[in-house]
Amino acid sequence: MYTLFLCLIVIWSGPTVQAKAPPPPVQCNRTGCTLSNSYGAWGSDRNGCHVTNVTYPETEEELRLAVAYANQHQLKVKVVSKFSHTIPKLACPGSNSEGANFLISTENYDSGIEMDGVNLVVTAEAGVTLRRLIDEVEGVGLSLVAAPYWEGVSIGGAISTGAHGSSWWGKGGAVHDHVVGISLVVPAKASEGYAKILRLEAKDPLLNAAKVSLGLLGVISKVKFSLERGFKRSITYNFTEEAGFEDTFIEHAKRHEFADITWYPSRNVAVYRYDDRVPINASGDGTFDFLGFQPNSILISQTIRATEKALESSRNSKGKCALAGAVVGVKKLVANGLKNNGQIFTGYPVIGRQGKMQTSGSCLYSTAIDTTCAWDPTIKGLFFFETTAIFAASSFADFIRHVKRLRDLNPDNFCGVDMYNGFLIRFIRASQAYLGQDEDSVAVDFNYFRADQPLTPRVNQDVWEEVEQMAFFKYGARPHWGKNRNLAFLGVPKKYKNFGNFVEVKRVLDPQNMFSSEWSDEVLFGKELGEKGDGCALEGQCVCSEDRHCSPEKGYFCKQGLVYKEARVCRYLQSSVS
Ligand SMILES: Cc1cc2nc3c(=O)[nH]c(=O)nc-3n(C[C@H](O)[C@H](O)[C@H](O)COP(=O)(O)OP(=O)(O)OC[C@H]3O[C@@H](n4cnc5c(N)ncnc54)[C@H](O)[C@@H]3O)c2cc1C
Ligand SMILES: *[C@@H]1O[C@H](CO)[C@@H](O)[C@H](O)[C@H]1NC(C)=O
Ligand SMILES: *[C@@H]1O[C@H](CO)[C@@H](O)[C@H](O)[C@H]1NC(C)=O
Ligand SMILES: *[C@@H]1O[C@H](CO)[C@@H](O)[C@H](O)[C@H]1NC(C)=O
Ligand SMILES: *[C@@H]1O[C@H](CO)[C@@H](O)[C@H](O)[C@H]1NC(C)=O
Repeated sequence: MYTLFLCLIVIWSGPTVQAKAPPPPVQCNRTGCTLSNSYGAWGSDRNGCHVTNVTYPETEEELRLAVAYANQHQLKVKVVSKFSHTIPKLACPGSNSEGANFLISTENYDSGIEMDGVNLVVTAEAGVTLRRLIDEVEGVGLSLVAAPYWEGVSIGGAISTGAHGSSWWGKGGAVHDHVVGISLVVPAKASEGYAKILRLEAKDPLLNAAKVSLGLLGVISKVKFSLERGFKRSITYNFTEEAGFEDTFIEHAKRHEFADITWYPSRNVAVYRYDDRVPINASGDGTFDFLGFQPNSILISQTIRATEKALESSRNSKGKCALAGAVVGVKKLVANGLKNNGQIFTGYPVIGRQGKMQTSGSCLYSTAIDTTCAWDPTIKGLFFFETTAIFAASSFADFIRHVKRLRDLNPDNFCGVDMYNGFLIRFIRASQAYLGQDEDSVAVDFNYFRADQPLTPRVNQDVWEEVEQMAFFKYGARPHWGKNRNLAFLGVPKKYKNFGNFVEVKRVLDPQNMFSSEWSDEVLFGKELGEKGDGCALEGQCVCSEDRHCSPEKGYFCKQGLVYKEARVCRYLQSSVS
């Protein structure tokens, strides 16, 4: 059986040429439109987002007229990019008493890029894709220093949720910390034409609110980034023992400009990324085509999903461990997708241009029907949760020690995380942005199986719930605004020293709360979501306090954490099921 997994994974990660483009997030018919996110995690069939009117402006003036239209007609409004890659339901507009609302897509507002090589800045329209911006910048011999590892984002969407790569050097790893100007379309008085454009420059205090704004202040029309002279990167991965990484991560981040660490807790493995800037004339034409973002055969994605579901229903942790072992083995073999010459991996270090090494997403550029991104909802492939917790550097080591204690009780409990990407640990510098990081921080991502049906409990979910609650409640981690399950946002206002300033700017710029919805309020204000329904803890809509918040009929009861006793998690009890 294990060889089968291994074959699957090897094929899964193999090179493919053709693929199917992800479906557009807005789908309309005669009765209206539905907005989904790229994973189908909300949208047509789950927790739908109904939109009564959508517009696709192509110029800044059309964008202004769209905001004016919404304001004049008192419509709730939101902006979404052509990707809609954000996991919380942030881009879904609320509705007025007649059930009407309005959506502005930046899909066609994506052409303008103004390069200023003298001042080392570039200004782009908000719908421009990250990939296009990077290619244009690199084309004139410059580099954008920070970007998320995933390139399938728009400029406006990326900064709005605080997207980041990894760096404690210079301005750091968060994209918004390289922003030096923003144009923002906000509602205005009738005498001003119902909407106006604010041009925020570097010294404007409003810029600190607008850099990371969750789409709540208005529509970003243009973003100005600071650039640096073009450079290359030299990357080596060291797959090694995990011992002591919680004591050395600071040194690692200080020594290498773009350092990160991936920890596979079930395998006692830590992977150090030694990633440094090298001069543009260093030899090497490598690319980083990250394995998880390469096109996957649809059949293989479906087979892996089916295997995972079978392991779930037979409660087979050992099977997950075999799969995790195979995945880590393949990643080591192919260096996570680094390619020395753009084709294959032949050895470390891999040296290539910044624009080819920082971010990737080859599954997006799809021309045929048999491959796609592994999570494409139309193929019923992978479906998973993504938790991202951002810690003050000073509390991170204690968090890891705590997780290690939990892991040591039974390492197999973590195989379901290691099958995905383990714990990806990245570095973000202190920021002036009101909803950015107040101090030098460490971000941890981990992904894990999500069932097709919200009320289906999952193997080992108690353990990952404990890690999640430990992160957000015991160690005060901040949630990434563009990821996470709702409970991660509980109590979020008191985690930001400038939270009050952000809310004040929001009140001034959008006094009617046009750009807010019940869903974005849940995220921003982190409020407990009304009544706790049956099964609410299963998808992270609540922290359980009674058994019915879990799934007692399937043997899952609300229990305390194993190491963090204050946690309340849904745990499977063997004896309860006959
Ligand atoms: C596979 C994958 C990998 C990822 N990897 C990373 C990573 O490495 N690092 C990381 O930090 N994040 C990562 N993310 C998260 C991603 O960076 C964010 O979710 C990002 O916000 C998505 O951008 P988007 O263009 O799809 O925005 P959307 O989902 O369309 O919108 C995001 C938010 O921004 C608002 N918005 C969009 N455009 C505008 C505008 N013009 N004006 C005002 N508001 C606007 C929307 O209303 C919404 O609230 C990843 C996501 C995926 C799916
Ligand atoms: C049309 O879209 C609405 C939601 O936008 C959906 O409820 C309905 O089922 C769709 N109808 C058809 C025929 O697809
Ligand atoms: C949709 O919005 C546009 C403005 O962008 C407006 O002209 C049009 O009348 C609206 N359509 C409906 C059905 O409300
Ligand atoms: C990998 O890391 C280990 C420490 O965990 C170290 O001993 C070893 O020298 C490193 N290997 C390389 C190639 O840097
Ligand atoms: C790169 O250029 C610098 C000067 O700009 C030069 O000193 C150096 O020798 C060059 N290195 C290589 C590998 O060509």
